[in-house]
Amino acid sequence: MVKVDKFIPKAIEKMQQQITDGRAIIALSGGVDSSVCAVLAHRAIGDRLTPIYIDTGLMRKGETERIKEIFCDMNLVVVDAKDRFLGALKGITDPEEKRKAVGETFIRVFETEAKTLKADYLIQGTIYPDRIESEGGIKSHHNVGGLPSVMDFKAIVEPVEDLYKDEVREVARALGLPHEISERMPFPGPGLSVRIVGEVTEELVNIVREANAIVEDELVEAFHPWQTFAAIIGKGTGVKGDVRVHGWIVAVRAVGSRDGMTAEALELPWPVLNRIESRISASLPTVARVVYDLTPKPPATIEFE
Ligand code: XMP
Repeated sequence: MVKVDKFIPKAIEKMQQQITDGRAIIALSGGVDSSVCAVLAHRAIGDRLTPIYIDTGLMRKGETERIKEIFCDMNLVVVDAKDRFLGALKGITDPEEKRKAVGETFIRVFETEAKTLKADYLIQGTIYPDRIESEGGIKSHHNVGGLPSVMDFKAIVEPVEDLYKDEVREVARALGLPHEISERMPFPGPGLSVRIVGEVTEELVNIVREANAIVEDELVEAFHPWQTFAAIIGKGTGVKGDVRVHGWIVAVRAVGSRDGMTAEALELPWPVLNRIESRISASLPTVARVVYDLTPKPPATIEFE
């Protein structure tokens, strides 16, 4: 386990040696990894750092507003790129194609900002397991191998590249980042797009965002899951009043895990599951059915795509 009181000053000093002149940027997602890197970099080089938050339109409810509040002491640039991401996802149903569309759009938007800001250095929140998973070809993570290959920086700086997730969380706590960041559940880079099975539309993003907020509200503080969320997994028949409707099926996922490599569904109390169902059905009239996914990983993955 990393000794945070030694790690933090060492990481800051190392960055000061790496970033001697010019400007640095970081793609700040609000995840614990990029948040820790942004704070370390800000302490190292102050306002020579510009964190860039790209609002993909695929973020969870309230996320963009919170990021603006939490990082208000930095030169944060918020880019509203919702339309570009939705446009890039139009007509795509294959999960890996969706990841690619989001990843590529992200790189293009980020590249434009980097050029505008004339940044010399790129700071990345890559952590040790990202490198291992990407090298093993398990899944495409867009913070590994994507940005550096298409951009011309003096150097790529990865201050937490040797840390595991729980170590990054400990550093986040020591840096005084709020609980919602230090203890934040993993959230995939492609955002809500991988929580919609099939084509991503604005309507579905709005539905899954609302359903997700309800699930998080009911489960995060009460059960401390490794990860919990809602996904739209297809359509099914329901009745609204006297009319049969073909509505969306929302799946609720809540898993315990040590490292995300394996996971098991949480045994949730029936009244809690019932409450989630009633809240989702009441607030989202186009949802016909709410189901709870019992499948461990393996054979399932944590996300639906
Ligand atoms: P799976 O679904 O493969 O996910 O069991 C394991 C962990 O990785 C997250 N995940 C991703 N993270 N980009 C990411 O940055 C992705 O494309 C991606 N896909 C899955 C997932 O949320 C879980 O924590």
